[in-house]
Amino acid sequence: MCGIIGYNGIQDPKGILLDGLKKLEYRGYDSAGIAILENNKTLVFRSEGKINQLETKLSTKKFNGSLGIGHTRWATHGAPTENNAHPHQVGAVTLVHNGIIENYLEHKSHLEKSNAVFKSDTDTEILAHLFNQAIKLGLSLKEACLKILPTLKGSYAFVALNDNQPDQMIGVANGAPLIVGLTKNENYLASDVQAILNRTNKVIYLKDGQIALCKKGEVEIFTPEGTLLKPEIKTLHWTADQMEKSGYRHYMLKEIHEQSQAIANTISGNIDPTSETIQIPELKKLQDKLKNLNRISIVACGTARHAGLVGKYYLEKFARVSTDVDFGSEFRYRQPVLEKNSLTLLISQSGETADTLAALRESRVHEVPALSICNVRESSLARESDIVLYTNAGPEIGVASTKAFTTQLTFLYMFAVQLGQIRGVISPEYAKELTNDLMHLPFLVDKTLRLEKQIEEIALNFQDNPFFFYMGRDNQYPIALESALKLKEISYAHAEGYPAGELKHGPIALIDRQAAVIVLATQNTSPKTFHEAGKSDNILLEKILSNLQQVKARGGQILSVGTEGDTVFSKESKYFIGLPKASWAINPILSTIPMQLLAYHIASLRGTDVDKPRNLAKSVTVE
Ligand code: G6P
Repeated sequence: MCGIIGYNGIQDPKGILLDGLKKLEYRGYDSAGIAILENNKTLVFRSEGKINQLETKLSTKKFNGSLGIGHTRWATHGAPTENNAHPHQVGAVTLVHNGIIENYLEHKSHLEKSNAVFKSDTDTEILAHLFNQAIKLGLSLKEACLKILPTLKGSYAFVALNDNQPDQMIGVANGAPLIVGLTKNENYLASDVQAILNRTNKVIYLKDGQIALCKKGEVEIFTPEGTLLKPEIKTLHWTADQMEKSGYRHYMLKEIHEQSQAIANTISGNIDPTSETIQIPELKKLQDKLKNLNRISIVACGTARHAGLVGKYYLEKFARVSTDVDFGSEFRYRQPVLEKNSLTLLISQSGETADTLAALRESRVHEVPALSICNVRESSLARESDIVLYTNAGPEIGVASTKAFTTQLTFLYMFAVQLGQIRGVISPEYAKELTNDLMHLPFLVDKTLRLEKQIEEIALNFQDNPFFFYMGRDNQYPIALESALKLKEISYAHAEGYPAGELKHGPIALIDRQAAVIVLATQNTSPKTFHEAGKSDNILLEKILSNLQQVKARGGQILSVGTEGDTVFSKESKYFIGLPKASWAINPILSTIPMQLLAYHIASLRGTDVDKPRNLAKSVTVE
């Protein structure tokens, strides 16, 4: 949460900082600010609300300086007011911060004893005070940093300026990300690469505790003890044009439409052309361990956890490994039983979600290997895992996750099939068939996306419904959860996802004529898969049809998402979406797409800020 950008170069920083903040806005957007150091004085401008409000405030301002910092906030300590917005300034020091200083109250009470006056309710302000105290003693930014860091508890990243050192900015990463961007004459500090992709593709990823001292045209990296390091400069995979909306009204819509390509990119490199089966090269490292696995614990948050729930169905069916799925925020606090022959599977788009990272660290304590499915290279999760399977979704900017989800499902499918092979649970022929199904997936996704017009019309009819109920069985149950989440996140409608069999245990009480009920009822059209995979959704279709009838009898307006050629669900429902024919394991990936589009179009009709829904942040880096 919160985005940081810093610039030390040769140009007026205003435009660079505002542009960087807009790219970071998905990390939080309840207030924003910038500070520019000119003529030995740092000028601070802050405003409540989104970046464009700050931009308006600054529209007529011109600066002489070439050093500045900026921040977009997602409030943790203190309301989202201008007063609490960053940068915070105390004396000669101006500072922006992401994360939480957990022992800030302890520091605050010490500082109050020395008559420090606090102007905000944030934990950040204590940092500015601590720096100011040190600077007043005659210390430089770097010396102040080395003095203060050992006294701080928590996960944080910050960037600070000192009026008396107008050629320098200093940044620290500790449990929250901070990267250094490099060009010949300029350097940047940013919470992630997206903020600077259009400026440079050369970066240094700061490791926990590391300090970056950015001088004019030169950067020095230090350990927390002050030892100079030789940093590794990396070249970025992502390009600046991936950050554009490319003619779409919203990033979310663009990202929905990118799914066919994103899935193809995720599959690429993981199919062995000789055996024509899935072979994920990274898994070689854990081959023996995987053979003898007796349990997998999937841990993730939000949409990524829903992907994990589908993963459980894949892993138990294809690899016959007992799998449980946990919320990142619950896992470590319930003292999980982590056995020797188990594996922790972490799923995260950003690789920076605090609770998912904490789960990874918990499994480390128990010496259980950690495998991650992650989209962002060099993220904290990726760096700390034994094996990383990178989804090649490209940058995902819309706060509501779409292409990250379907590429996570794609990797879970591949992992389960390969694990089934490693464990000798599925035959080479069956593995080949499942691989073949997967290779058709990008084409089927593309075909599904062409249903958008029809979905827009359904959205028009559903836009004012106060309550949405999604139900599915088997591996479509997690899609019911994800579809409800998507709608909630961006349209603010009340939506619930349920396993259809639970309907009679409570939620049926909510069904009336105003309820929009979405029934996920796809057919498995791959008979061989049906046979080998054991019980399939075709058996369950009869059951979900009864659930549909129970809802219909109570007046619910039904939209069924089934398979093209269907004659049963289409007849019983007010609206029907027919997906391309597909197998049991491919179906949940396909049914996700119309549900994303439905949420998107309902939200657009309701006029919400689709890419930046209220109160949410894309990357939740605090507990
Ligand atoms: C936030 C985002 C969700 C995301 C979740 C987990 O809640 O708004 O879209 O699914 O975090 O994020 P991660 O980066 O770990 O996948």
